[in-house]
Amino acid sequence: MASVVFLNGEFLPREEAKLSVDERGFLFGDGIYEVTRVVGGRLFESGRHLKRMWRGARELRLNVTMSSEALIDAHLRLLRENGLTDGEAYVYLQITRGAAPRTHHFPPAGTPVTVYLSATRFLPPDEKRAAGVSAVTYPDYRWSRCDLKTVNLLPAVMAKQHAADHDAFESIFVRGAVLTEGSHTNVFGVLDGELRTYPNSNFVLPGVTRDLVVELAKGLDFPVNETPIYTHEVPQLTELFLTGTTSDVMPIVRLDGAVVGDGVPGPIARQLHEALVARMAEAAPLGAGAR
Ligand code: PDD
Repeated sequence: MASVVFLNGEFLPREEAKLSVDERGFLFGDGIYEVTRVVGGRLFESGRHLKRMWRGARELRLNVTMSSEALIDAHLRLLRENGLTDGEAYVYLQITRGAAPRTHHFPPAGTPVTVYLSATRFLPPDEKRAAGVSAVTYPDYRWSRCDLKTVNLLPAVMAKQHAADHDAFESIFVRGAVLTEGSHTNVFGVLDGELRTYPNSNFVLPGVTRDLVVELAKGLDFPVNETPIYTHEVPQLTELFLTGTTSDVMPIVRLDGAVVGDGVPGPIARQLHEALVARMAEAAPLGAGAR
């Protein structure tokens, strides 16, 4: 089935969707994005994704005129247009400051933002999950607003390529003496029976999956300590894992070539993954799924 995308109010064949060379997303990376998981044709945790998107739009003063309802409708129609009303998929949403002659400051008032959506079939990486993956560390030279999900992703691109160069699933950013997050994932460790993860702050993305996993862990009575993992603590970790919309809960069994814990996926990651999958199975859509 040919891919259909949404661009500024229109549903178009992908090859007919065109942007201006003055587009500020292209010139400055001046925009935000979200990636929302689709399970059985239903948007998973779309309320949390929208909340994060609106916060980013406010912080970056993007004048988004589409309502949440219109955005959700566009997500759902896109799933129908692409035959993705069952199975797993994800929807990518990007909103940029629009097209205008290049100036660093904002374009003239009234310049419409660009709203782009695409939907893609997704196969969860379950085989990798069963074996556990390897990760490598990478210096966190990003800016101090990592809480905003901007399309300015060059450090993430470099970090993920570093992982690819080392046959690793992910790069984990290290800022000073602590692990912050992955190139497109959050990071959890288990130390002394406690679940540790970087606290939500301007140095990490407040991951939808991260926040859900923290809630699920508390529900399962695992002690959660939102404190960074120090690099010197890594050898003592009994488990290390990633969370994210396209990774779910992904155990790491090697970091920079050294074995983590017992070198196999751990029981806490497994239980949290099962709890997450159960939550997806009962996913309550905003609206009635891909109507
Ligand atoms: N990335 N940290 C970073 C830097 C991310 O880019 C992402 C998501 C996450 C996990 O957030 P969530 O659980 O809300 O997906 C953490 C998306 C999936 C991407 O860039 O494709």
